[in-house]
This record gives sequence, C-alpha cells and structure tokens, in this order.
Amino acid sequence: MPYTSSITRTYTFCAAHRLHTDQLPDDLNQKIFGKCNNPNGHGHNYTVLVTVQGELDPRTGLITDVDALDRLVKENIVNRFDHQHLNFDPAFATVTTTGENLARLIWDLLVDRIPSGRLEKIGVIETRDNFFEYIGVPKEASGSVSNRIKEN
Ligand code: NI
Repeated sequence: MPYTSSITRTYTFCAAHRLHTDQLPDDLNQKIFGKCNNPNGHGHNYTVLVTVQGELDPRTGLITDVDALDRLVKENIVNRFDHQHLNFDPAFATVTTTGENLARLIWDLLVDRIPSGRLEKIGVIETRDNFFEYIGVPKEASGSVSNRIKEN
C-alpha cells in the first residue's frame, strides 16, 4: 500500500563543475552545454531536497528519525561534495555532472540507508531556473520509528 505521508528535508552545499563528456568532440560539447562547457568550470550553491515517505509512528506522529537522517545526509552527501569540484569525484568519472546525474547519484548513496520510512525522491536545485528530480526504484520501508526506538 502506498504511503501518503512524507517529510522533505533540505540541505545545501557549494560545488564546482563543468559539463563535458569525452564521448563527444569538443565542438559538440560546446554546442550542447554552451557556457557550462567552459574549461575552468563554474560553481553552484546546490540545495538538495530529500523526501522520505512512510507510516506515522502512532505515538510520535513522526515518519522518520530526522536527526539520524540529517547525520546520514551530512556524512554521505554534504561532506563529500561541499567545496569540491564534482568532475573530480570518482562517481562522475564516466558520467557528466548534470543535475540529473547528481540527483540520481544522491539517491543511490542514500536509498539503502534511510533510518526509517523509505526514500521517495531526491530534488536538486542548481540555479533559480533549474530543478531536477530523481525517483528511483523504491525500497521496502526499513521499519517504523517505534521499532527503532524499541531496538535501542
Ligand atoms: Ni552548472
């Protein structure tokens, strides 16, 4: 049964990137990516939206452990990318650093680690005019908040 409740947390990091693929000649890179292909790269203040859906814990009314989610995203996403050049990250060795690919990578890095509930989608705001969203293969919810509390 699909869940109807979700929580979205936002996180920010600053990073540089250059849109370029070695699979295309330089002139086509320039044509496709425009100024985003400039050799020296450029920076963005990225905002990442992490949406977790799940059942409400009947006692707390919460879907997930927000503190644990924040730690997860900080350790695996923010610390990894903040003030870095995305093109030099191993995950982007063979794929371009588009917002589309970044959203998908963030999904892959988080989907198996959500404290409770399950990852519904990842949003990436790159600029005022660019918002990307990725919805991957859903995972089973990893247990309710109450189960987690009992385990502790
Ligand atoms: Ni850019």
